[in-house]
Amino acid sequence: MTSARKLIAGNWKMNGLRADLAEISTLAESLEAEAFDGDVAVCPPATLAALAVDLVAGKPVKIGGQDCHAEAAGAFTGDISAEKWTDLGAEYVIVGHSERREYYREDNAIVKAKAAAAIRAGLTPIICIGESLAEREAGKTLDVLGEQIAGCIPSEAKNTAIVVAYEPLWAIGTGHTPTLEQIGEAHAFMRKALTNEIGAMAATTPLLYGGSVKPANAKDILATNDVDGALVGGASLKASDFLQIIRAA
Ligand code: 13P
Repeated sequence: MTSARKLIAGNWKMNGLRADLAEISTLAESLEAEAFDGDVAVCPPATLAALAVDLVAGKPVKIGGQDCHAEAAGAFTGDISAEKWTDLGAEYVIVGHSERREYYREDNAIVKAKAAAAIRAGLTPIICIGESLAEREAGKTLDVLGEQIAGCIPSEAKNTAIVVAYEPLWAIGTGHTPTLEQIGEAHAFMRKALTNEIGAMAATTPLLYGGSVKPANAKDILATNDVDGALVGGASLKASDFLQIIRAA
């Protein structure tokens, strides 16, 4: 057991239309009737986020963005700043997701600047790290995680809450998950590396596991040492699946 508060976060990625907001309403209403000891967040597409904030008002679900720009405002067509997410009523923002790193070439320095922007705007950044299959097979997993933590965690995190999510690239959307031993090893290493970066705050930083978390495997993954929650993609799209994962925590 760690002293971090539990967080189960859903990342809808580029999925969901207005009709799917009913899933968020169902989730919020169901959780109102249950006493989940932790936080629940949904990060829908930006087009749905403001509507989602209104739907969950006063209910035990928080809304997050999926990315933010490092600047507060300016000529950045198509981008959304952390301040915009705060203005909208979001409380979290995902930064450094592997899909952003891969498709938009975001490196550790960019991710760090985005995480710092999130903190500046009063959001909790969910900072994603994780190794590729080639890195795992070459025995470099912990080296990669160490480099990413050293490169992505802003110094502001020494006295402001952040969340770190371990998402092995080869587990995302594939139905393959690491063994519980591999998850436990990665998370214990992350806690240590994070302590080097931000000191005592590392003990209360929620470390999430992400990558093919489903109702069937959630209980075991969430019971693993140093796993404080999950970042869920596909299985967060339906309230019934996501609720089963939350209940497993
Ligand atoms: P899946 O749960 O669909 O594998 O996605 C994981 C993920 O990338 C969450 O950010």
